[in-house]
Amino acid sequence: MDTVRIRDADADDAADIARIYNHDVLESTATFDTEAKTPEERTVWLATHDAAHPVLVAETGGGVRAWGCLTKWAERPAWRHTVEVSVYVDLDARGQGLGSGLMTALMERASDAGHHAVIGQIVAGNDASLALARRLGFEEVGRLLDVGRKFNEWLDVVLMEKRLAGPRGRGG
Ligand SMILES: CC(C)(COP(=O)(O)OP(=O)(O)OC[C@H]1O[C@@H](n2cnc3c(N)ncnc32)[C@H](O)[C@@H]1OP(=O)(O)O)[C@@H](O)C(=O)NCCC(=O)NCCS
Repeated sequence: MDTVRIRDADADDAADIARIYNHDVLESTATFDTEAKTPEERTVWLATHDAAHPVLVAETGGGVRAWGCLTKWAERPAWRHTVEVSVYVDLDARGQGLGSGLMTALMERASDAGHHAVIGQIVAGNDASLALARRLGFEEVGRLLDVGRKFNEWLDVVLMEKRLAGPRGRGG
């Protein structure tokens, strides 16, 4: 693998982000999205993210090959130190460290932003994603049964959580 550069995404990355994501939207249960995203839609989506909820891309000599983001877990204010993490890697670039590089960078950004809990919602059976999360210190804290339906199958979701050294007290 060439040198990997992990950086904040900008609007010019929307087409690569859509291309990488759409593989899993259309072919796998890794995401519960079922309709392919357009670059225009991803541009709007990118604009909904901010410094505390960044979208990062991993770029190699072959261009942008993976992306990941932190998203608010929920809107109500008491959830403000909790975020969801997501990472997607181009099919032919998997197993080369891009996913772990992005996850590590996103955990650093979560910590810098003062987030306290990071959650991965991982469909049961997504062994690569579960292994990656466990390797980075996430633990299974729950399981939602039969909450997704894709490709005519009921799907369970494993909730994986990692707590950071962010705000712990009653302030913040
Ligand atoms: C899950 C995903 C992000 C992992 O990214 P990746 O770049 O392929 O993973 P890495 O090469 O960084 O590997 C990191 C760790 O993940 C685990 N892993 C990766 N691929 C694996 C596989 N096929 N089976 C089991 N574990 C795997 C291993 O623990 C690995 O660490 P190791 O190499 O030290 O054993 C990637 O496979 C992907 O994009 N999958 C489809 C989308 C997806 O499921 N996203 C997560 C949605 S919650």
